[in-house]
Amino acid sequence: IIVPVILSGGSGTRLWPVSTAEAPKQFQPLTGGDSMFRHTVERASDRTRFAAPLVVCGPAHVAHVEVDLAAARIDDARIIVEPAARNTAPAIALAALAARSDDPDAMILVMPADHVMTDVPTFRKAVEAARPAVEGGALATFGIAPSHPETGYGYIAAGDPVIGAPGVRMVRRFVEKPPRERAEAMLDEGSHYWNAGIFLMRADRFLAELERQQPAMASACTAAMDGARSDGAKVHPHADAFLASPSNSVDYAVMEGASHVVVVPVDPGWSDVGGWAALHELGDKDMAGNVRIGEIIALDAADNYLRAGDGKRIAVVGVSDLIVVAHGDDILVIPRERAQEVKAIVEALAKRS
Ligand code: GDD
Ligand code: MG
Repeated sequence: IIVPVILSGGSGTRLWPVSTAEAPKQFQPLTGGDSMFRHTVERASDRTRFAAPLVVCGPAHVAHVEVDLAAARIDDARIIVEPAARNTAPAIALAALAARSDDPDAMILVMPADHVMTDVPTFRKAVEAARPAVEGGALATFGIAPSHPETGYGYIAAGDPVIGAPGVRMVRRFVEKPPRERAEAMLDEGSHYWNAGIFLMRADRFLAELERQQPAMASACTAAMDGARSDGAKVHPHADAFLASPSNSVDYAVMEGASHVVVVPVDPGWSDVGGWAALHELGDKDMAGNVRIGEIIALDAADNYLRAGDGKRIAVVGVSDLIVVAHGDDILVIPRERAQEVKAIVEALAKRS
């Protein structure tokens, strides 16, 4: 049985002002329709294939999670509430410990709550393809063919096909967030994929790797779950024990140094909604390439992302390649190619308050 693990503790600072610490991007209808969190749980809601999900998030996210789970009519989820964020390796460790204590053979499917996927059947097939190798002890990653030398992703160097597992390849190397030159070299070389941030693995195998590579993290998370308190669907790991854990991402802490990693190359229409530029790419555009959301007047304007919330109206003339977002009391104006720098605004605001 596969236990879906939904990582939902991030705050999405590059989508300010819509995404904030209190209302992070995964709970917002940013791409139209329902929230990305809801789409993520629904990707694994078929109970003939998947067990009840484990959601891992912070105290500030619990209310959003509960609203979205109710809207998706999912009533069997458990919510592991982290006393503080320690990045993805400890978050996954808590879920792996919970899954293993329910079932020593449990497999976990780790999914970030803030990605868009347009072809879910293709994704489910890739999960099925990974299964035999994972039952045999492999840690499975899912690889997206790269379109540019992105430095914000992990890269997976694919090797030989795995015998008896069609569509699955051995991983020669896992390189998290390479510098630009290294990313370019990997693109030129071919046989490299972006890490989608989704993992299928046996809970016990993940925990064994964690103990080998990150003993302090493993023991802190084990103590936190041993001392956990349950409150309905919520699980509260022991706070002091968890706070003692080092903070690191699963990619640096485990995947780069793990043995027996495999990759399933897949094209599920995946997009990491990392910033406003990604939303411009994903959105429906007018004849001039503008994405218009809300009440927009755009004259002689091209390739802009214009989003007016809260009854506001945005009017632009003669501009191109801009992001303009009005939300609540805040207005953001930034060139599309510099959209990643929104993060700096959030940092500047944090210093002020
Ligand atoms: N529960 C919990 N606790 N969730 C967390 C925490 C935490 O402390 N920190 C991050 N998350 C969640 C985020 O909300 C997100 O859904 C997911 O974990 C991944 O974290 P990011 O911070 O978004 O990672 P990243 O984008 O820098 O890099 C990862 O994803 C890329 C693809 O999107 C890596 O796995 C890369 O290798 C990968 O290419
Ligand atoms: Mg991310």
